[in-house]
Amino acid sequence: MNLSGRSLTDISDLSREEIVFLLTKTKSLKENSRGDLPSPRGSGKSVALLFFEPSTRTRTSFEMAAFRLGFRVLNLDATSSSAQKGETIYDTAKNVEALRPHGMVIRHSGSGIPLQISKLLKIPVINAGDGFHAHPTQALLDAFTIHEKFGKISGLNVLIVGDIAHSRVARSNISLLRMMGAKVKVCGPPTLIPPLATELGVEVTDKLDDNLGSADVVMALRMQMERQSSFQVPSLKEYTTRFGITEERLGLVKKDAIILHPGPVNRGVEIMSVVMRDPRCQVIDQVENGVLMRTVLLEEFLGAPL
Ligand code: CP
Repeated sequence: MNLSGRSLTDISDLSREEIVFLLTKTKSLKENSRGDLPSPRGSGKSVALLFFEPSTRTRTSFEMAAFRLGFRVLNLDATSSSAQKGETIYDTAKNVEALRPHGMVIRHSGSGIPLQISKLLKIPVINAGDGFHAHPTQALLDAFTIHEKFGKISGLNVLIVGDIAHSRVARSNISLLRMMGAKVKVCGPPTLIPPLATELGVEVTDKLDDNLGSADVVMALRMQMERQSSFQVPSLKEYTTRFGITEERLGLVKKDAIILHPGPVNRGVEIMSVVMRDPRCQVIDQVENGVLMRTVLLEEFLGAPL
């Protein structure tokens, strides 16, 4: 499987076979690594991280993944970069490329920016989240977490709950999970479901309680207040009453289901603290798996030997 030198800006950049290859390779890495300490091998490679939106999990897991591979990391601090003086993202990316990193990881609020940059640059570009559009590395680590638990993805019922309209995580998960044969349903207030949701091949519902019992995977999403043009639910309290994963609703979730959330979690809004402590909740496992998946992605797309 040759992914070396390619960019990853969307799940549609990958075939089903390539996704299976990445899941298998991540499984092998997890089984064969102690998972505690990084083991840099001094590959001599370098990767530039350009995050123009806040991040905890994605940025640090790419850094840790790079550390494990022995990559040097060039971290651009967007808040003190010349973007503040009006430099365009395209000029910033071209200038960072001139520093000769072997690849670039980009997060930006503009949908499509990583794709446009990948067309401008000669080095691989990995999308770490762009606007409402895509978060392919999150979908890959979510798929790994699901596959690790069930040994398959095909045929599973996945219920994605919350702010679907503003969620790049939902879009990338829908693409990937459908490609792998899962049945995906989205659940949320009608104002937070994109108008063409059914064209994505998913069922749509606003009845959470009626649908929790048949889900193998319940994926709660963050309410993205910063992306909502105006408040699109009457109140957060009402949202929680209808769509929050509460202690009472845990009783409706299957005993062998898993509960996912990409983070950051708004405790008490989309998910309660008691749910975070439930053994079915895999939120921290998702973060651990993120380092492994991103290690494989850096290795494969930036072409470093493990
Ligand atoms: N899931 C996710 O993208 O988290 P961060 O915003 O913390 O990177």
